[in-house]
Amino acid sequence: MMMYCAKLPRLAYVTFTGGPKMAQAKVYTLDEFVQDVGQVFSDHNDPRAQAQKVSKHLSGLLKVPDSLEGRLDPPTDGEFTMQNLHLDKDRGHPSPGFLVMVSTLAAGWGNVPHDHGTIWVVYGVYKGSIQQTKYQWVYPEGEWTAPQFTVIQKFIQKPGEISFFLPGEIHDTSNASTERSLVVRVESRSLEGHWRHMYNLENNAAVASTSAAPPPAE
Ligand SMILES: [Fe+2]
Repeated sequence: MMMYCAKLPRLAYVTFTGGPKMAQAKVYTLDEFVQDVGQVFSDHNDPRAQAQKVSKHLSGLLKVPDSLEGRLDPPTDGEFTMQNLHLDKDRGHPSPGFLVMVSTLAAGWGNVPHDHGTIWVVYGVYKGSIQQTKYQWVYPEGEWTAPQFTVIQKFIQKPGEISFFLPGEIHDTSNASTERSLVVRVESRSLEGHWRHMYNLENNAAVASTSAAPPPAE
């Protein structure tokens, strides 16, 4: 007999074989996670609601020990690498093309402040730890034409911890571990080819870019 168990993560099922004391939990898989993410786009149009629902599913996936074992081919070199796990042709926000991927960050790696245009991105740490820094344009009182690019938050994400950035939000990410960190990312639509901006904290400059990778240092 198979039944839903409310005390376990969503979509965790318990199969009873030989009585309750013999119960074995069926783990939440990457394929089930991808199905659930797709369903979120079918059920919700609001980006905040979408990102929150996807975060809960990703938290469930990351609670499963070695949940991506056998599905990853992590590189052993390279400062920053990406491996796509699922690119969806039918669903996403603001248009089809949501992407589930894993990024690997070498020790000491960090990118420049950037937004994701009209796309939201959920970040869940699989291994290692990362630092996230959030930025905002702040207008000094009475200086309504002199916005200052400003740090508003910094936090560390450890394995299993989730954060997300909604359309228009600005952040940068750096590896907070001395080892290579692995991060599961869900992009509401693949960032590849999508217009967005990179920012310079020191001179309040911004530059538009369609690349998923940070621009070369100037
Ligand atoms: Fe980002």
